[in-house]
Amino acid sequence: MHTWQLASTGADGWWITQHPDDHFRTSLFAADRIAEIIVAMISEFLPQQAPSVLDLGAGSGTLTEALAARQPQWSVTAVDVRPGPVGSTGRWLVDTWDVQRAAWTTGAVEAWWADRAGPVVVIGHEFLDELPCPVGPDADPAWAARWWPDAAHPHLPEVGRTRDLAWADVLGRLGRTGGLAVMVDYGHRAGQRPTGPTLRGFRDGHLVEPALDGSVNLTADVAVDAVAAAAEAAGGRRVWFARQSDTVEHWLPRPTGSTPLADLAARNQRRVLGARESAGGRGLGDYWWLVHRVAGAGGATTPDMAG
Ligand SMILES: C[S@@+](CC[C@H](N)C(=O)[O-])C[C@H]1O[C@@H](n2cnc3c(N)ncnc32)[C@H](O)[C@@H]1O
Repeated sequence: MHTWQLASTGADGWWITQHPDDHFRTSLFAADRIAEIIVAMISEFLPQQAPSVLDLGAGSGTLTEALAARQPQWSVTAVDVRPGPVGSTGRWLVDTWDVQRAAWTTGAVEAWWADRAGPVVVIGHEFLDELPCPVGPDADPAWAARWWPDAAHPHLPEVGRTRDLAWADVLGRLGRTGGLAVMVDYGHRAGQRPTGPTLRGFRDGHLVEPALDGSVNLTADVAVDAVAAAAEAAGGRRVWFARQSDTVEHWLPRPTGSTPLADLAARNQRRVLGARESAGGRGLGDYWWLVHRVAGAGGATTPDMAG
């Protein structure tokens, strides 16, 4: 795991030397639509107060910007290992989540939390899958026995404890302020674990052999049910847990009313965001959305909408 960590966020690591826009196309090609979904969730689950929003692993800040543009009265902040684009100063924190210590590194995120008084919304959009996870039952026998038992799965467990701890940290902090934790990622649940390794390498938009020298992006699917359990153990109440296909259907209204061209573009985005697996591989609709609400000290509760 240490080698993966160095390859990812070490001095010459992939994320220190590379920029996501040069290698990936995530759902944020339609960042406005994803922002629309998140804003709808916030209006439903946190109706009373304007929240502060923290976008973990913000990449180039596309989602941060889309949320800030939609809700200028909100304070929206990006976090990533690299400095943000020009113009984002003040809304951008440079910090690295250290999976070995299960802690932020530079003090920027810590200081941001220390300043919060009201409700916070934390977003991890394709963040947890980036966090190194050890492979094999000996790495964490308790986790493997609970989430990836031998008998049910033919290949070595990808031990998701590092992802669980990162998300539990978010939920623990929300326990003081109240708010929402929104995780969006590709992953699997018990009973549907993958039949082969999901650890893989990416470069220039293509799958490549995983390498541990910082020359490729390494990622592995997230055990989303384990993350959900960790969030609940840390005080979160599950309010939404569904594939992106169902999330789009429920939370993203069909576009109507603007110009025909804008309508067509929004309809196309909606269709691509919700499309499930096809012959060409996984669709964006296969992603998981996991949302937890935390009442915070003295806060109110909201209705459950767990999928
Ligand atoms: C796949 S990109 C996703 C970017 C954007 N959220 C999106 O969905 O398009 C993952 C981002 O997480 C950041 N990241 C990876 N490991 C991190 C860590 N340990 N701490 C903070 N950020 C990290 C990377 O620098 C990268 O910008």
